[in-house]
Amino acid sequence: RHPGWPAKLGPLRVPAGVLAVRPVRLRDAGEWSRVRLRDREHLEMWEPTGIGPWPDRNAFWSWPSQWLALRGLARRGQCLPFTITVDGRFAGQITVGNVIRASLRSAWIGYWVSSDIVRGGVATGAVALVTDHVFDFGGLHRLEATVRPENTPSLRVLGKAGYRQEGLFERYLDVAGGWRDHFCYAITKEETGDGLVSRLVAKGLAERV
Ligand code: ACO
Repeated sequence: RHPGWPAKLGPLRVPAGVLAVRPVRLRDAGEWSRVRLRDREHLEMWEPTGIGPWPDRNAFWSWPSQWLALRGLARRGQCLPFTITVDGRFAGQITVGNVIRASLRSAWIGYWVSSDIVRGGVATGAVALVTDHVFDFGGLHRLEATVRPENTPSLRVLGKAGYRQEGLFERYLDVAGGWRDHFCYAITKEETGDGLVSRLVAKGLAERV
């Protein structure tokens, strides 16, 4: 057992519905694959370059090995791989990865949301839930999010959740077939006050249920 894992977070009411976050499951395979095969255009340009064609990488049968790898990392305390649900249905993923402890106590956070429920506050709510969780229970002090400057929706998510822009990483990540510049956004525990979820609730962007 590692700090903060496994965990179920939420529920939180956002405009899209009732949002919750829980560990990835082997039985997410069907919905994970169905949504990702349909959402290729929505996702591919923002994701790490993969090996092999999209339909193969996102086929039903490719989930078990991904799930096993994520579960292994989670058991070693290196990753917190969550599924996002809305009204109890699979709605995307949010992952805290590359967890470094000792005197750094930092990690990255990344997410994607099903195209049929975007613009409903889901990613913002999920980022707030997971950020509060890793600071309160995961033993971390800092989270970083790297985003392509062209990714307006994701930049908006981080701004609404309370992350700060710290800089530009040039040719930083191999995304969609090339070395892409990324803005670095970050937040440390000191900045979160009563928590990012409480702040969203105070602003009327989410409601605890
Ligand atoms: N132009 C301008 N603003 C936009 C656009 C657009 N084309 N599309 C959405 N937005 C705004 C929305 O209006 C909303 O802002 P508002 O509340 O001020 O109106 C904001 O972007 C989106 O906020 P949420 O509703 O909380 O986010 P959502 O659940 O829609 O998810 C996400 C956003 C995750 C970026 C989704 O679009 C997605 O999955 N995209 C593809 C994958 C991706 O880019 N993932 C993030 C990679 S970077 C990282 O992981 C750190």
